[in-house]
Amino acid sequence: MAQRETWATRTGFILAAVGSAVGLGNIWRFPFVTGEGGGAAFLLVYLLFVALVGFPAILVEFVVGRKTKRNPVGALIELGGDAWKYVGGIFIVTGFVILSFYSVVAGWFIRYFLEGFRGSYSSHLAEYGGEAGAMFGELSTGLDAFFFHTVFMALTIGIVALGIRQGIELAVKVMVPAIVLLLVGMAIWAFTLPDAGAGYEYYLSPEFGVIADNWQELLPAAAGQAFFTLSLGMGVMITYASYLGEDRNLAKDGTAIIGFDTGIAFLTGLVVFPIFFSAGITEPGEGGAGAIFISMTEAFADVTGGHILGLVFFGTVAIAALSSAISLLEVVTAYVIDEKGVERWKAALGMGGVIYLLGVPVTYDLIFLDLLDGFADGVLLVFGALMLVILVGWITPKIAVQELEKGIGDLGSLGQAWIWAIRVPILVVLIVSLSLGVIDYVDFLTEDFAGWIDENL
Ligand code: TRP
Repeated sequence: MAQRETWATRTGFILAAVGSAVGLGNIWRFPFVTGEGGGAAFLLVYLLFVALVGFPAILVEFVVGRKTKRNPVGALIELGGDAWKYVGGIFIVTGFVILSFYSVVAGWFIRYFLEGFRGSYSSHLAEYGGEAGAMFGELSTGLDAFFFHTVFMALTIGIVALGIRQGIELAVKVMVPAIVLLLVGMAIWAFTLPDAGAGYEYYLSPEFGVIADNWQELLPAAAGQAFFTLSLGMGVMITYASYLGEDRNLAKDGTAIIGFDTGIAFLTGLVVFPIFFSAGITEPGEGGAGAIFISMTEAFADVTGGHILGLVFFGTVAIAALSSAISLLEVVTAYVIDEKGVERWKAALGMGGVIYLLGVPVTYDLIFLDLLDGFADGVLLVFGALMLVILVGWITPKIAVQELEKGIGDLGSLGQAWIWAIRVPILVVLIVSLSLGVIDYVDFLTEDFAGWIDENL
């Protein structure tokens, strides 16, 4: 590879990493998996997972990237030896799978954004008998969905093909504050709703008995959500850290990135659940992939100037999704450029084109969303994280601690604590999560998906 650039500004790296992390995972996926996991019980397991596994795991990707200064596949080979190229291969597959459905969901946001220009959300709702769920049902599949999936993927491919970096930093600088402001405003508004209390109760007050009874579902769901939202488990953070100067304090940067990402997800919950309960939806899990669309259209239909707010909200999320999608396609593209010597635009177009096709079935039926999302989050990301933990914890621990100490100083026993944390307890948690995730996914394949095939083919 040619001479590598490093991030121009101190904040450049954080901005790009936050741009990758903050996206549909926080605003679309978090509320609906929280609903499916029963609310507060899921939230607690998820927060623990982020702090106890997510933080050590983001450091793992950072040290691998900054130490080797290579793309994820090259980095693994350099540290672990030739056999690790297969793990790198799985990273690439993961990128394919995630971006394929990600683009369809991002397309929904573009669609809802455009609705804001067409007048008030209450008038749109009226077209669907006042039912936000019916509106989502109509728009989430079919020609609409197909068209906006195409638009979103074309944008993503275009940006990656042109290698535009500057635009991303700027977009993130505007987008993250905009999202935070909007969510805070909406959360305050949601607080004033009549049944807000029931929403908070559901979201914030965990029953430990529920966690104990359901940990076998909660753990893999929390693991998948944590890795997805933090962009961990497929080499995105390896890639970004490979452009990093030695003077950066990785622990500090990791904390900032995780703090932003988790804060935004948490805020989204503070908006969605009070709205749900006030709208009489007391089983938030039922909203499924439509949760955020349903609750937000209800809200925007209800407040004055709602279509302006809606336009800003859905538009900002679409931009957030774009900055994440770029990170996904960039990993896949950079790999083809580095390892196969293909030109950038050809690589982006070729890989992006295949990903686009893989996403098309989702616009036909949402069962394909579960098929792809379940595989990526329940299986692939957890597997990727597990492999990295084995590599750093058991194969190159000394190098890893030295790398972490650059920019921080002597860590003393903290460095050892990190290594031992990933060597044993985190490793065990990941193996358990992965096993449970695989079982869940096989269940899905043999029951839901097989049933769907019987009915439809
Ligand atoms: N983290 C992003 C989100 O929450 C999605 C994402 C981008 C991602 N790059 C990733 C997820 C790499 C897993 C791996 O929307």
